[in-house]
Amino acid sequence: AALRRRTAPPSRLMSRSCYSSGSHPERKVVILGAAGGIGQPLSLLMKLNPLVSSLSLYDIANTPGVAADVSHINSRAQVAGYAGEEQLGQALEGSDIVIIPAGVPRKPGMTRDDLFNINAGIVKSLCIAIAKYCPNALVNMISNPVNSTVPIAAEVFKKAGTYDEKKLFGVTTLDVVRAKTFYAGKAKVPVAEVNVPVVGGHAGVTILPLFSQATPKSNSLGDEDIKALTKRTQDGGTEVVEAKAGKGSATLSMAYAGAVFADACLKGLNGVPDIVECSYVQSTVTEVPFFASKVRLGKNGVEEVLGLGPLSDYEKEGLESLKPELKSSIEKGVKFANQS
Ligand code: NAD
Ligand code: LMR
Repeated sequence: AALRRRTAPPSRLMSRSCYSSGSHPERKVVILGAAGGIGQPLSLLMKLNPLVSSLSLYDIANTPGVAADVSHINSRAQVAGYAGEEQLGQALEGSDIVIIPAGVPRKPGMTRDDLFNINAGIVKSLCIAIAKYCPNALVNMISNPVNSTVPIAAEVFKKAGTYDEKKLFGVTTLDVVRAKTFYAGKAKVPVAEVNVPVVGGHAGVTILPLFSQATPKSNSLGDEDIKALTKRTQDGGTEVVEAKAGKGSATLSMAYAGAVFADACLKGLNGVPDIVECSYVQSTVTEVPFFASKVRLGKNGVEEVLGLGPLSDYEKEGLESLKPELKSSIEKGVKFANQS
């Protein structure tokens, strides 16, 4: 029985629909940083997505091996690996979605902003290439600090004359994934049924889960429980960084979250109605120019940035106190992009 389980065909491990291409349109997805801790499991998950017809895996090195490996999986996407800057254009050409997990991760004791000096330059050069080779693609930014790397991308695209605010997303899905998991555990409700919006940004106090809007409702959670859940969600990344003790940050849960968000973008592009996810986008929901909130996805990327809905007093306080940090992270990104 054990042998049978190990060798079970994919159709027994995943739902049948995962492997049928049906009548889905052709969609090319590119992963920049595909050989990394997030990039590899994300490549696997995108290879399993039946909405993907072409999967392009780019990194500065080691992508041929990753591409050869996932290419043997009997699913729809045709896989190609590209290594080194000279192959970046080919990797990007014709893509519908570019997912960017390229860059260094945190070690214990570091903030996400401590990654700025290295990752800002990486993101900037990748975005220059995106503007040149696939200016119409949706960009899913994972590289930290997301609060700054998204504004950097926006500035690069503005300079290149290709900026479309509907097509640039900071991936904050992992915050939602964590908030759902932690809430379900504390409220003792089935995790698969849980929804929790998470707004603001993607670093420490800028991550603001709105547990007052969580569903299914729970009457068993008091104010102290909500505070503890909020803090755990805000510190979720640090919890993983410390547990990994110098070997990086969240990779597997991030790959899952990145795949969930990319799948939502693909569905939106394909015209599936009512696709709503939280994401860090250009926004007028508050006075902060980039802000994470619920976003309706469609054929052009962002169809609508949804408002915050009613907030508890605790959440209103959280919202006010996150704004200065979020603003200064945005300004730092804008300044970097325009200076160098
Ligand atoms: P990693 O070091 O394991 O992998 C990063 C990969 O990027 C490496 O393979 C590296 O070769 C590649 N890379 C570096 N420079 C590149 C370039 N110029 N072009 C293409 N690829 C390049 O790191 P990781 O654990 O995969 O994390 C990647 C990034 O994602 C980090 O910045 C991390 O902080 C961030 N992250 C974000 C979230 C989120 O929720 N948004 C969650 C987890 C991690
Ligand atoms: C996360 O939330 O896990 C990522 O942003 C990685 C990190 O540095 O915490």
